[in-house]
Amino acid sequence: MHKKYKIAVLPGDGIGPEVMQETYKIINIIKKKFCINIQTLEYDIGGIAIDKHGTALPEKTLIGCKNSDAILLGSVGGPKWDILPSEKRPEIASLLPIRKYFNLFANLRLAILHKKLNYLSPLKKKNIQDGFNILCVRELTGGIYFSKPSEEVKNKKVHYAIDTSIYHKYEIQRIAKIAFDEALKRKCKVTSIDKANVLYTSKLWRKTIDEVSKNYPKVHLSHLYFDNAIMQIIKNPNQFDVILCPNLIGDVISDECGILTGSIGMLPSASINTKNFGLYEPAGGAAPDIQGKNIANPIAQILSFSMLINHSFKMTNISNLINIAIQKTLLKGFKTYDISNDKNFITTEQMGNEIVKSFIEEL
Ligand code: IPM
Ligand code: MN
Repeated sequence: MHKKYKIAVLPGDGIGPEVMQETYKIINIIKKKFCINIQTLEYDIGGIAIDKHGTALPEKTLIGCKNSDAILLGSVGGPKWDILPSEKRPEIASLLPIRKYFNLFANLRLAILHKKLNYLSPLKKKNIQDGFNILCVRELTGGIYFSKPSEEVKNKKVHYAIDTSIYHKYEIQRIAKIAFDEALKRKCKVTSIDKANVLYTSKLWRKTIDEVSKNYPKVHLSHLYFDNAIMQIIKNPNQFDVILCPNLIGDVISDECGILTGSIGMLPSASINTKNFGLYEPAGGAAPDIQGKNIANPIAQILSFSMLINHSFKMTNISNLINIAIQKTLLKGFKTYDISNDKNFITTEQMGNEIVKSFIEEL
């Protein structure tokens, strides 16, 4: 009997269901061509879950995820739910608790620009002659996103808001280990980003990462301050290999790296724990402005699935084939709306079909 791989699929809101549909095409081909028993079960999350069940992260969804080997998520949120108090909004009430619940402390976001596709990038060609391949490793369950107190305080005497940022040493050690291990599989370079000239959490961050690096003599480590890092990435992204960041800094840096590839619609992400369990989702949002128009870019979603089978199922070869198929489709000149600067673009569905075609050509 073949092993059964179970994926909890959470299409969510906005363009989520549309781009998920294209991902199913790749899943089905893989099941057929490689005789792999992948079972997908769908659950509600985000705004649609609020509408149907009164909560953004229903119990049934959590149980479904718990009984699976990995989670494939579309996107959550939209203007319909923006009127809710912030803690009830789909993004806040589903993404943050699901990350915490499964202890998904490591967020990997992969920004790749092929040198022949450098015209897609908003950067000047001379700065990206060779393209780039950056892996952002973002700490995802600590820092200012989760530390307490975090609230607005209003009474007769005072009115203020407070957020707290705490980093425990063990939290820094385990994310550093992930970054160094990933660097060993790549160009053996880690750049850690912090604000150690000002923040105590950053001072501990830097000291701890220096300590962990001693176990990785093959990996070259450097540190940059956040403000400088933002500039260096724009000036010469190809100098970076693995970028390691605390939670909030990683949120910003990963979006920056994403858009430098031409579109945030091509940036996949993996949020993993120590047990190879993970949640895989596009780094961009629900894009409600283009929802239902069949113009969304399905690449980030398909690449997220590729990261899923790589990290959680250890099917690195098939994952590589998917990545190659996507590069090939782009090199053939196929573009969705977000990466086209004229009227010459194909639909979400057509892009999905072209990627499947390129994938089959690679087999
Ligand atoms: C992301 C998102 C989330 C984050 C929001 C929606 C809570 O921007 O996944 O990057 O800030 O982590
Ligand atoms: Mn973000």
